Parts: sequence; C-alpha cells; structure tokens
Amino acid sequence: MKSAPTSKPPVGEAEHKAVQVQAMFAAIAGRYDLLNRVLSLGVDRSWRSHAAREVLALSPASVLDVATGTADFALEVKRRAPEARVVGCDFVPQMLEIGRRKARTLQLEVQLEEGDALNLPYPDASFDALSCAFGFRNFSDYRRGLEEFYRVLRPGGRAVILEFPPPQPNLLGSAFRLYFEHLLPRIGQLVSGSDTAYRYLPESVLAFPPPKKLAQLMEEVGFKARYRLLTFGIAAVHIGVKPA
Ligand SMILES: C[S@@+](CC[C@H](N)C(=O)[O-])C[C@H]1O[C@@H](n2cnc3c(N)ncnc32)[C@H](O)[C@@H]1O
Repeated sequence: MKSAPTSKPPVGEAEHKAVQVQAMFAAIAGRYDLLNRVLSLGVDRSWRSHAAREVLALSPASVLDVATGTADFALEVKRRAPEARVVGCDFVPQMLEIGRRKARTLQLEVQLEEGDALNLPYPDASFDALSCAFGFRNFSDYRRGLEEFYRVLRPGGRAVILEFPPPQPNLLGSAFRLYFEHLLPRIGQLVSGSDTAYRYLPESVLAFPPPKKLAQLMEEVGFKARYRLLTFGIAAVHIGVKPA
C-alpha cells in the first residue's frame, strides 16, 4: 500500500506540529498496528501490560486513554477491567475507526471519541485514571498536555504515561539508537509506504525530554511523580498522582 506523501512533522515542542502529526497518522493508520508489532519485535505488548497494571492499580471506575490511536491500550485496560468505563480519545479519525473495528471484533465496549489532548473535551475531575501510550511525545506543548491530564483527573487519580525516552548513554542505548535511526526507518517505509513517519519516530525520541525531566515537569504541574525504565530504558513509564 502506498500512502499519500506527507511532510515530516517537526520534533519537540513546535508550532504547527499538530496538523502535520494528524496528517502523518492519517496516512499510516491502516498499517500502524502491524508496524507496532514488527518494529518493537512484539515487546510493546509487555510494556502495555506493565502500564495497564499501573493504570488499574487503584481499581478505577473510569479511565481516559489519551491519544488512543487504534485503541490498543484502551482495549487492554477494558479487557483487564471489564467493569470500568473506558474512554479513548484521539484527534485522527482514521486511527479511531480502526480501533472501533477492533473493539467490535473483540466485543469490548470502549467509547472512542475525537478530541485534542491539549484541549480535552471532558469536564474537570471526570476520570479516576488516565493513560497515554506513545502519544505524549507527539504533543506540541508538553506542559499544556500535563495540565489537561491534571484537570480531567479526580483528586487522588493517576496519570500513566508510556513513552520512548532518548536512548541511555551506554552500550545497549547505542545499539538501540543504531536500530532506531537506521534499520527502523527502512522497515517502516517498506511496510507503511510512508518515508516520513518512521524517520520522524527516532528524531522525535531523541528530541524528547529524559525521564527525570519529564517527572520534574509533572511535579511542576502538581502531580506527585515517579517513573520506571522498562527493557533497559528503551521505554519508560511515568506515574503521576493528583493529590487527594
Ligand atoms: C504513536 S500513536 C499511539 C497510539 C496508541 N496510544 C498506542 O499505544 O498504540 C500516537 C497517537 O497520538 C495521537 N495524537 C498525537 N497528538 C495528539 C493530540 N494533540 N491530541 C490527540 N491525539 C494526538 C495521534 O493521532 C496518534 O494516534
């Protein structure tokens, strides 16, 4: 499948990033799930499991999955906690449509809705827990994203962010960087037909704040924050609790 050409979004916190991020995910939506599995060699499933356990640690009655994409994370949460109300929101309708199809196939009831993470279409204090898996890095304003997470959470609620931090400055980090910067974009292009999306991925990871800095930013917004590195630091899960 050849996707329509899209320009590569800017990385880090940049103006006009959102429109290009939307165009990029709209173009690769049909191949996104396959690429996730192939490029992470299936390891993303264990990262998602870990993060889902953190989201469900206090048995929330309602969970919002921000930047839900094709809803993998929202569906994982619903599968583990069938009694919880699970809502996923994303600003790319093509990604959501694939998520809706998967939810129907799996017979899992999740609400998938269009919405911008930097201006969430939900009232204050309306969710017990919130997740954001591999979406946060794409935001054009990290602080604004965290402020929105904080706003829609109930006091005592927790936000769980799963992301790729910049590679660690060690041997494994260097090996990963090599894979990420050279091999991954080629496989990504072959499978998705997009020559931009999988060049954007490593560049956006390198431009992302290191875990300590993200935790600091979460604290500045009001969260009590901690984080844990997964698979030798290839992924990181940040947990922010909104004080009760
Ligand atoms: C790499 S995908 C991750 C999807 C899913 N969470 C997962 O774990 O597979 C990133 C998603 O973030 C969404 N996204 C990025 N910025 C967003 C924003 N400001 N508001 C809503 N969604 C956003 C994109 O549309 C895309 O679906």
